[in-house]
Amino acid sequence: MIIVPKVRGFICLTSHPVGCAQNVVNQINYVKSKGAINGPKKVLVIGASTGFGLASRITSAFGANASTIGVYFEKPAAEGKPGSPGWYNTAAFEAEAQSAGLYAKSINGDAFSKEIKQKTIELIKADLGQIDLVIYSLASPRRTHPVTGVVHNSVLKPIGETFRNKTVDFHTGVVSEVSIEPCTEEDIANTIAVMGGEDWEMWMDELKAAGVLANGATTVAYSYIGPKLTEPVYRKGTIGMAKDHLEKTAFVIDEKLKDLNGHAYVSVNKALVTQASSAIPVIPLYISLLYKVMKAKGLHEGCIEQMQRLFATRLFNGSKVPVDEKGRIRVDDWEMREDVQAEVAALWAEATTESLPNIGDLAGYRNDFFNLFGFEFPGINYEADVNEMVAVPGLV
Ligand code: NAI
Ligand code: NA
Repeated sequence: MIIVPKVRGFICLTSHPVGCAQNVVNQINYVKSKGAINGPKKVLVIGASTGFGLASRITSAFGANASTIGVYFEKPAAEGKPGSPGWYNTAAFEAEAQSAGLYAKSINGDAFSKEIKQKTIELIKADLGQIDLVIYSLASPRRTHPVTGVVHNSVLKPIGETFRNKTVDFHTGVVSEVSIEPCTEEDIANTIAVMGGEDWEMWMDELKAAGVLANGATTVAYSYIGPKLTEPVYRKGTIGMAKDHLEKTAFVIDEKLKDLNGHAYVSVNKALVTQASSAIPVIPLYISLLYKVMKAKGLHEGCIEQMQRLFATRLFNGSKVPVDEKGRIRVDDWEMREDVQAEVAALWAEATTESLPNIGDLAGYRNDFFNLFGFEFPGINYEADVNEMVAVPGLV
Protein backbone atom coordinates (compact mmCIF):
# COMPACT_ATOMS: atom_id res chain seq x y z
CA MET A 1 0.00 0.00 0.00
CA ILE A 2 0.99 3.66 -0.30
CA ILE A 3 1.20 5.10 3.20
CA VAL A 4 0.79 8.81 3.89
CA PRO A 5 0.70 10.56 7.29
CA LYS A 6 -2.76 10.89 8.84
CA VAL A 7 -2.31 13.42 11.60
CA ARG A 8 -4.89 13.97 14.34
CA GLY A 9 -3.65 16.61 16.77
CA PHE A 10 -0.49 15.38 18.43
CA ILE A 11 -0.66 11.86 17.02
CA CYS A 12 -0.25 10.36 13.62
CA LEU A 13 -2.51 7.42 12.85
CA THR A 14 -0.29 5.88 10.20
CA SER A 15 3.35 4.90 10.08
CA HIS A 16 5.75 3.99 7.34
CA PRO A 17 7.66 0.70 7.62
CA VAL A 18 10.55 1.76 5.37
CA GLY A 19 10.96 5.09 7.17
CA CYS A 20 10.81 3.45 10.60
CA ALA A 21 13.49 1.01 9.46
CA GLN A 22 15.59 3.93 8.26
CA ASN A 23 15.23 5.59 11.66
CA VAL A 24 16.52 2.43 13.35
CA VAL A 25 19.41 2.00 10.90
CA ASN A 26 20.44 5.63 11.42
CA GLN A 27 20.52 5.05 15.17
CA ILE A 28 22.52 1.84 14.79
CA ASN A 29 25.04 3.61 12.57
CA TYR A 30 25.41 6.41 15.10
CA VAL A 31 26.10 4.00 17.96
CA LYS A 32 28.62 2.03 15.88
CA SER A 33 30.39 5.26 14.89
CA LYS A 34 31.00 6.03 18.57
CA GLY A 35 32.92 2.80 19.20
CA ALA A 36 32.51 -0.11 21.59
CA ILE A 37 31.13 0.30 25.10
CA ASN A 38 32.34 -2.10 27.77
CA GLY A 39 28.78 -2.50 28.93
CA PRO A 40 26.02 -4.97 29.70
CA LYS A 41 25.78 -8.36 28.03
CA LYS A 42 22.16 -9.39 28.62
CA VAL A 43 19.60 -6.65 28.71
CA LEU A 44 15.86 -6.37 29.31
CA VAL A 45 14.26 -3.17 28.01
CA ILE A 46 10.71 -2.46 29.21
CA GLY A 47 9.26 0.08 26.76
CA ALA A 48 11.71 -0.94 24.04
CA SER A 49 9.94 0.06 20.85
CA THR A 50 10.21 3.85 20.62
CA GLY A 51 11.91 6.87 22.16
CA PHE A 52 14.50 6.42 24.89
CA GLY A 53 13.76 2.72 25.34
CA LEU A 54 14.44 1.90 21.69
CA ALA A 55 17.63 3.99 21.80
CA SER A 56 18.70 2.13 24.96
CA ARG A 57 18.15 -1.18 23.24
CA ILE A 58 20.10 -0.11 20.17
CA THR A 59 22.95 1.17 22.35
CA SER A 60 23.04 -2.11 24.32
CA ALA A 61 23.08 -4.24 21.20
CA PHE A 62 25.22 -2.27 18.79
CA GLY A 63 27.37 -0.46 21.36
CA ALA A 64 27.99 -3.30 23.81
CA ASN A 65 27.15 -6.40 21.75
CA ALA A 66 24.41 -7.31 24.19
CA SER A 67 21.63 -9.83 23.83
CA THR A 68 18.35 -7.96 24.28
CA ILE A 69 14.77 -8.73 25.18
CA GLY A 70 12.29 -5.94 24.48
CA VAL A 71 8.85 -5.54 26.03
CA TYR A 72 6.42 -3.06 24.51
CA PHE A 73 2.79 -2.45 23.61
CA GLU A 74 2.34 -1.90 19.88
CA LYS A 75 -0.26 -2.44 17.21
CA PRO A 76 0.77 -5.18 14.77
CA ALA A 77 0.61 -4.55 11.07
CA ALA A 78 -2.55 -5.81 9.38
CA GLU A 79 -3.58 -6.10 5.74
CA GLY A 80 -4.23 -2.55 4.52
CA LYS A 81 -3.62 -1.10 8.00
CA PRO A 82 -0.12 -0.07 8.97
CA GLY A 83 1.13 -1.18 12.37
CA SER A 84 2.22 1.38 14.96
CA PRO A 85 5.73 2.85 14.61
CA GLY A 86 7.09 0.77 17.48
CA TRP A 87 6.01 -2.35 15.63
CA TYR A 88 8.04 -1.40 12.56
CA ASN A 89 10.94 -0.11 14.66
CA THR A 90 11.17 -3.44 16.45
CA ALA A 91 10.85 -5.40 13.23
CA ALA A 92 13.80 -3.46 11.81
CA PHE A 93 15.86 -3.60 15.00
CA GLU A 94 15.47 -7.35 15.41
CA ALA A 95 16.25 -8.03 11.76
CA GLU A 96 19.43 -5.93 12.03
CA ALA A 97 20.40 -7.49 15.37
CA GLN A 98 19.90 -11.02 14.15
CA SER A 99 21.89 -10.43 10.98
CA ALA A 100 24.69 -9.03 13.16
CA GLY A 101 24.58 -12.29 15.13
CA LEU A 102 22.98 -10.71 18.18
CA TYR A 103 20.18 -12.35 20.16
CA ALA A 104 17.03 -10.19 20.07
CA LYS A 105 13.54 -11.25 21.06
CA SER A 106 10.45 -9.41 22.14
CA ILE A 107 7.14 -9.59 23.91
CA ASN A 108 4.22 -7.41 22.83
CA GLY A 109 1.73 -6.87 25.65
CA ASP A 110 0.82 -4.93 28.75
CA ALA A 111 3.98 -4.57 30.83
CA PHE A 112 1.87 -3.56 33.84
CA SER A 113 0.27 -7.01 33.94
CA LYS A 114 1.44 -10.04 35.93
CA GLU A 115 1.09 -12.18 32.84
CA ILE A 116 3.62 -10.24 30.77
CA LYS A 117 6.08 -10.17 33.67
CA GLN A 118 5.81 -13.95 33.98
CA LYS A 119 6.17 -14.43 30.24
CA THR A 120 9.30 -12.27 30.26
CA ILE A 121 10.80 -14.20 33.15
CA GLU A 122 10.17 -17.48 31.35
CA LEU A 123 11.87 -16.14 28.23
CA ILE A 124 14.90 -14.98 30.22
CA LYS A 125 15.15 -18.37 31.95
CA ALA A 126 14.87 -20.27 28.68
CA ASP A 127 17.23 -18.17 26.58
CA LEU A 128 19.54 -15.98 28.66
CA GLY A 129 19.55 -17.43 32.18
CA GLN A 130 20.16 -14.11 33.88
CA ILE A 131 20.23 -10.46 32.84
CA ASP A 132 22.61 -7.74 33.97
CA LEU A 133 20.70 -4.60 32.94
CA VAL A 134 17.01 -3.67 33.14
CA ILE A 135 15.93 -0.47 31.43
CA TYR A 136 12.52 0.81 32.50
CA SER A 137 11.23 3.23 29.86
CA LEU A 138 7.46 3.04 29.86
CA ALA A 139 5.35 6.06 28.98
CA SER A 140 1.65 5.33 29.14
CA PRO A 141 -1.56 7.26 29.65
CA ARG A 142 -3.11 4.45 31.72
CA ARG A 143 -2.41 1.42 33.83
CA THR A 144 -4.62 -1.42 34.91
CA HIS A 145 -3.39 -2.23 38.38
CA PRO A 146 -2.38 -5.91 38.49
CA VAL A 147 -3.60 -6.43 42.07
CA THR A 148 -6.72 -4.27 42.37
CA GLY A 149 -7.82 -4.31 38.72
CA VAL A 150 -8.45 -0.56 38.94
CA VAL A 151 -7.73 1.38 35.74
CA HIS A 152 -5.69 4.50 36.54
CA ASN A 153 -5.55 7.34 34.01
CA SER A 154 -2.67 9.79 34.19
CA VAL A 155 -3.24 13.50 33.57
CA LEU A 156 -0.94 16.40 32.72
CA LYS A 157 -2.24 19.17 34.95
CA PRO A 158 -0.98 21.79 37.36
CA ILE A 159 -1.62 21.41 41.07
CA GLY A 160 -3.50 24.07 43.03
CA GLU A 161 -3.61 26.88 40.50
CA THR A 162 -4.68 27.40 36.92
CA PHE A 163 -1.67 27.49 34.64
CA ARG A 164 -1.63 30.12 31.90
CA ASN A 165 1.17 30.39 29.40
CA LYS A 166 2.01 30.26 25.75
CA THR A 167 1.80 27.15 23.68
CA VAL A 168 2.18 26.34 20.02
CA ASP A 169 0.23 24.18 17.65
CA PHE A 170 3.30 22.70 15.98
CA HIS A 171 1.39 21.85 12.80
CA THR A 172 0.13 25.37 12.10
CA GLY A 173 2.79 27.33 13.99
CA VAL A 174 0.11 29.34 15.78
CA VAL A 175 1.25 30.53 19.21
CA SER A 176 -1.62 31.04 21.62
CA GLU A 177 -2.39 31.34 25.28
CA VAL A 178 -3.30 28.08 26.98
CA SER A 179 -5.04 27.78 30.28
CA ILE A 180 -5.02 24.49 32.18
CA GLU A 181 -7.26 24.00 35.19
CA PRO A 182 -5.70 22.45 38.29
CA CYS A 183 -6.10 18.75 38.97
CA THR A 184 -8.00 16.99 41.71
CA GLU A 185 -6.36 14.95 44.51
CA GLU A 186 -7.47 11.82 42.69
CA ASP A 187 -5.65 12.93 39.54
CA ILE A 188 -2.39 13.09 41.49
CA ALA A 189 -2.82 9.59 42.89
CA ASN A 190 -3.80 8.21 39.50
CA THR A 191 -0.85 9.81 37.71
CA ILE A 192 1.52 8.44 40.35
CA ALA A 193 -0.06 5.00 39.90
CA VAL A 194 0.65 5.12 36.16
CA MET A 195 3.97 6.94 35.86
CA GLY A 196 5.44 6.54 39.37
CA GLY A 197 7.74 3.77 40.52
CA GLU A 198 5.33 1.07 41.70
CA ASP A 199 5.41 -0.96 38.51
CA TRP A 200 9.20 -0.62 38.19
CA GLU A 201 9.55 -1.99 41.73
CA MET A 202 7.12 -4.83 40.93
CA TRP A 203 9.23 -5.79 37.91
CA MET A 204 12.42 -5.77 39.92
CA ASP A 205 10.83 -7.76 42.77
CA GLU A 206 9.58 -10.41 40.39
CA LEU A 207 12.82 -10.62 38.41
CA LYS A 208 14.79 -10.96 41.63
CA ALA A 209 12.46 -13.56 43.14
CA ALA A 210 12.73 -15.61 39.95
CA GLY A 211 16.53 -15.58 40.21
CA VAL A 212 17.03 -14.03 36.79
CA LEU A 213 19.05 -11.01 37.92
CA ALA A 214 22.80 -11.51 37.60
CA ASN A 215 25.23 -10.48 40.30
CA GLY A 216 25.88 -6.75 39.88
CA ALA A 217 22.68 -6.20 37.91
CA THR A 218 21.78 -2.58 37.23
CA THR A 219 18.40 -1.05 36.57
CA VAL A 220 17.67 2.42 35.20
CA ALA A 221 14.43 4.39 34.79
CA TYR A 222 14.04 7.76 33.07
CA SER A 223 12.94 11.05 34.50
CA TYR A 224 12.69 14.69 33.49
CA ILE A 225 13.11 18.00 35.29
CA GLY A 226 13.10 20.88 32.79
CA PRO A 227 13.00 24.64 33.22
CA LYS A 228 11.06 27.00 35.49
CA LEU A 229 8.83 27.82 32.51
CA THR A 230 7.24 24.39 32.38
CA GLU A 231 7.43 23.68 36.11
CA PRO A 232 3.73 24.27 36.97
CA VAL A 233 2.58 21.84 34.32
CA TYR A 234 5.51 19.41 34.45
CA ARG A 235 7.80 19.02 37.43
CA LYS A 236 5.43 20.59 39.96
CA GLY A 237 2.34 19.23 38.24
CA THR A 238 0.80 15.77 38.35
CA ILE A 239 3.49 14.18 36.17
CA GLY A 240 6.18 15.70 38.40
CA MET A 241 4.61 14.03 41.42
CA ALA A 242 4.90 10.74 39.57
CA LYS A 243 8.55 11.48 38.73
CA ASP A 244 9.24 12.30 42.40
CA HIS A 245 7.79 8.90 43.25
CA LEU A 246 9.85 7.19 40.54
CA GLU A 247 13.03 8.85 41.82
CA LYS A 248 12.28 7.77 45.41
CA THR A 249 11.64 4.24 44.22
CA ALA A 250 15.19 4.08 42.83
CA PHE A 251 16.47 4.14 46.43
CA VAL A 252 14.02 1.43 47.48
CA ILE A 253 15.08 -0.84 44.62
CA ASP A 254 18.77 -0.03 45.16
CA GLU A 255 18.43 -1.28 48.74
CA LYS A 256 16.70 -4.46 47.57
CA LEU A 257 19.52 -5.15 45.08
CA LYS A 258 22.29 -4.77 47.70
CA ASP A 259 22.71 -8.50 48.27
CA LEU A 260 23.27 -8.90 44.53
CA ASN A 261 25.72 -5.99 44.46
CA GLY A 262 23.24 -4.38 42.13
CA HIS A 263 22.14 -0.80 41.68
CA ALA A 264 19.04 1.16 40.70
CA TYR A 265 19.35 4.57 39.08
CA VAL A 266 17.19 7.25 37.63
CA SER A 267 18.63 9.09 34.66
CA VAL A 268 17.27 12.56 34.01
CA ASN A 269 17.12 12.94 30.24
CA LYS A 270 16.76 15.87 27.89
CA ALA A 271 13.43 17.10 26.52
CA LEU A 272 12.89 15.48 23.14
CA VAL A 273 10.15 14.98 20.63
CA THR A 274 8.56 11.60 21.30
CA GLN A 275 4.99 10.37 21.18
CA ALA A 276 4.81 10.95 24.94
CA SER A 277 6.14 14.53 24.97
CA SER A 278 4.10 15.79 21.99
CA ALA A 279 0.99 15.33 24.10
CA ILE A 280 2.09 17.72 26.85
CA PRO A 281 0.87 21.33 26.43
CA VAL A 282 3.58 24.03 26.43
CA ILE A 283 6.38 21.45 25.94
CA PRO A 284 6.38 21.68 22.10
CA LEU A 285 6.99 25.46 22.28
CA TYR A 286 9.75 24.96 24.82
CA ILE A 287 11.33 22.19 22.72
CA SER A 288 11.23 24.24 19.53
CA LEU A 289 13.10 27.09 21.27
CA LEU A 290 15.46 24.68 23.03
CA TYR A 291 16.34 22.95 19.75
CA LYS A 292 17.16 26.27 18.14
CA VAL A 293 19.49 27.29 20.97
CA MET A 294 21.14 23.89 21.41
CA LYS A 295 21.67 23.40 17.67
CA ALA A 296 23.30 26.85 17.42
CA LYS A 297 25.67 25.89 20.24
CA GLY A 298 26.42 22.45 18.79
CA LEU A 299 24.83 20.81 21.85
CA HIS A 300 21.76 19.23 20.29
CA GLU A 301 21.12 15.54 20.88
CA GLY A 302 18.36 13.11 19.97
CA CYS A 303 17.36 9.96 21.87
CA ILE A 304 20.23 7.92 20.48
CA GLU A 305 22.92 10.52 21.28
CA GLN A 306 21.49 10.78 24.80
CA MET A 307 21.47 7.04 25.42
CA GLN A 308 24.90 6.48 23.89
CA ARG A 309 26.26 9.17 26.22
CA LEU A 310 24.38 7.69 29.19
CA PHE A 311 25.92 4.27 28.62
CA ALA A 312 29.44 5.34 27.62
CA THR A 313 30.07 8.19 30.05
CA ARG A 314 27.78 7.47 32.98
CA LEU A 315 26.65 3.86 33.47
CA PHE A 316 29.60 1.97 31.93
CA ASN A 317 32.45 4.44 32.10
CA GLY A 318 34.76 2.01 33.88
CA SER A 319 34.55 3.79 37.21
CA LYS A 320 31.97 5.38 39.52
CA VAL A 321 28.61 6.42 38.08
CA PRO A 322 28.43 10.21 38.48
CA VAL A 323 25.21 11.40 40.14
CA ASP A 324 23.78 14.67 41.43
CA GLU A 325 22.98 15.60 45.04
CA LYS A 326 19.76 13.61 44.79
CA GLY A 327 21.48 10.50 43.46
CA ARG A 328 20.29 11.02 39.90
CA ILE A 329 22.29 10.58 36.71
CA ARG A 330 22.07 13.79 34.66
CA VAL A 331 22.22 13.65 30.89
CA ASP A 332 20.03 16.74 30.79
CA ASP A 333 23.19 18.62 31.78
CA TRP A 334 23.51 20.40 28.42
CA GLU A 335 19.81 21.31 28.30
CA MET A 336 20.03 22.75 31.80
CA ARG A 337 23.23 24.74 31.22
CA GLU A 338 22.75 28.29 32.43
CA ASP A 339 23.53 29.92 29.08
CA VAL A 340 21.11 27.61 27.26
CA GLN A 341 18.29 28.24 29.73
CA ALA A 342 18.85 32.00 29.77
CA GLU A 343 18.59 32.15 25.98
CA VAL A 344 15.49 29.97 25.88
CA ALA A 345 13.80 32.13 28.52
CA ALA A 346 14.55 35.30 26.55
CA LEU A 347 13.19 33.77 23.34
CA TRP A 348 10.12 32.52 25.19
CA ALA A 349 9.18 36.09 26.12
CA GLU A 350 9.38 37.11 22.45
CA ALA A 351 7.64 34.10 20.94
CA THR A 352 4.62 34.88 18.78
CA THR A 353 3.10 33.25 15.73
CA GLU A 354 5.03 35.77 13.62
CA SER A 355 8.42 35.47 15.34
CA LEU A 356 8.54 31.74 16.04
CA PRO A 357 9.61 30.63 12.53
CA ASN A 358 12.77 32.72 13.04
CA ILE A 359 13.51 32.42 16.74
CA GLY A 360 12.44 28.80 17.16
CA ASP A 361 13.11 25.51 15.42
CA LEU A 362 9.55 24.62 14.59
CA ALA A 363 10.72 22.95 11.39
CA GLY A 364 13.04 20.74 13.43
CA TYR A 365 10.22 19.90 15.81
CA ARG A 366 7.87 18.98 13.00
CA ASN A 367 10.53 16.96 11.23
CA ASP A 368 11.27 14.97 14.40
CA PHE A 369 7.55 14.43 14.91
CA PHE A 370 7.07 13.00 11.42
CA ASN A 371 10.26 10.96 11.77
CA LEU A 372 8.70 9.22 14.81
CA PHE A 373 6.21 7.69 12.39
CA GLY A 374 8.73 6.98 9.66
CA PHE A 375 7.87 10.01 7.52
CA GLU A 376 10.01 12.74 6.00
CA PHE A 377 13.27 10.83 5.79
CA PRO A 378 15.32 11.96 2.82
CA GLY A 379 15.90 9.37 0.14
CA ILE A 380 12.69 7.43 0.75
CA ASN A 381 10.11 7.37 -2.00
CA TYR A 382 6.88 7.89 -0.10
CA GLU A 383 4.83 7.47 -3.26
CA ALA A 384 6.01 3.91 -3.67
CA ASP A 385 3.91 0.90 -2.82
CA VAL A 386 5.30 -0.71 0.35
CA ASN A 387 4.57 -3.95 2.11
CA GLU A 388 2.77 -3.01 5.34
CA MET A 389 2.78 -6.63 6.54
CA VAL A 390 6.19 -6.57 8.16
CA ALA A 391 6.79 -9.27 10.77
CA VAL A 392 8.82 -8.84 13.96
CA PRO A 393 11.41 -11.62 13.65
CA GLY A 394 12.01 -12.20 17.37
CA LEU A 395 8.42 -11.84 18.59
CA VAL A 396 7.66 -14.55 21.15
P1 NAI B 1 7.69 6.71 24.13
O1 NAI B 1 6.24 6.96 24.03
O2 NAI B 1 8.54 6.93 22.94
O3 NAI B 1 7.95 5.18 24.59
C1 NAI B 1 7.11 4.50 25.47
C2 NAI B 1 7.35 3.01 25.41
O4 NAI B 1 6.50 2.38 26.38
C3 NAI B 1 7.01 2.35 24.06
O5 NAI B 1 7.96 1.33 23.81
C4 NAI B 1 5.64 1.73 24.32
O6 NAI B 1 5.34 0.61 23.50
C5 NAI B 1 5.81 1.31 25.76
N1 NAI B 1 4.55 1.12 26.48
C6 NAI B 1 3.59 2.04 26.77
N2 NAI B 1 2.60 1.45 27.48
C7 NAI B 1 2.95 0.15 27.64
C8 NAI B 1 2.36 -0.96 28.30
N3 NAI B 1 1.21 -0.88 28.95
N4 NAI B 1 3.01 -2.14 28.23
C9 NAI B 1 4.19 -2.28 27.58
N5 NAI B 1 4.80 -1.25 26.96
C10 NAI B 1 4.19 -0.06 26.99
O7 NAI B 1 8.18 7.54 25.37
P2 NAI B 1 9.59 8.18 25.82
O8 NAI B 1 9.50 9.64 25.61
O9 NAI B 1 10.73 7.41 25.28
O10 NAI B 1 9.48 7.97 27.40
C11 NAI B 1 10.16 6.96 28.10
C12 NAI B 1 10.52 7.49 29.48
O11 NAI B 1 11.42 8.60 29.33
C13 NAI B 1 9.31 8.03 30.27
O12 NAI B 1 9.49 7.70 31.62
C14 NAI B 1 9.43 9.53 30.06
O13 NAI B 1 8.81 10.27 31.09
C15 NAI B 1 10.94 9.68 30.10
N6 NAI B 1 11.46 10.94 29.56
C16 NAI B 1 11.00 11.46 28.37
C17 NAI B 1 11.48 12.68 27.93
C18 NAI B 1 11.01 13.28 26.64
O14 NAI B 1 11.23 14.48 26.42
N7 NAI B 1 10.39 12.53 25.75
C19 NAI B 1 12.50 13.44 28.69
C20 NAI B 1 12.97 12.76 29.86
C21 NAI B 1 12.44 11.57 30.29
NA1 NA C 1 10.77 4.40 25.44
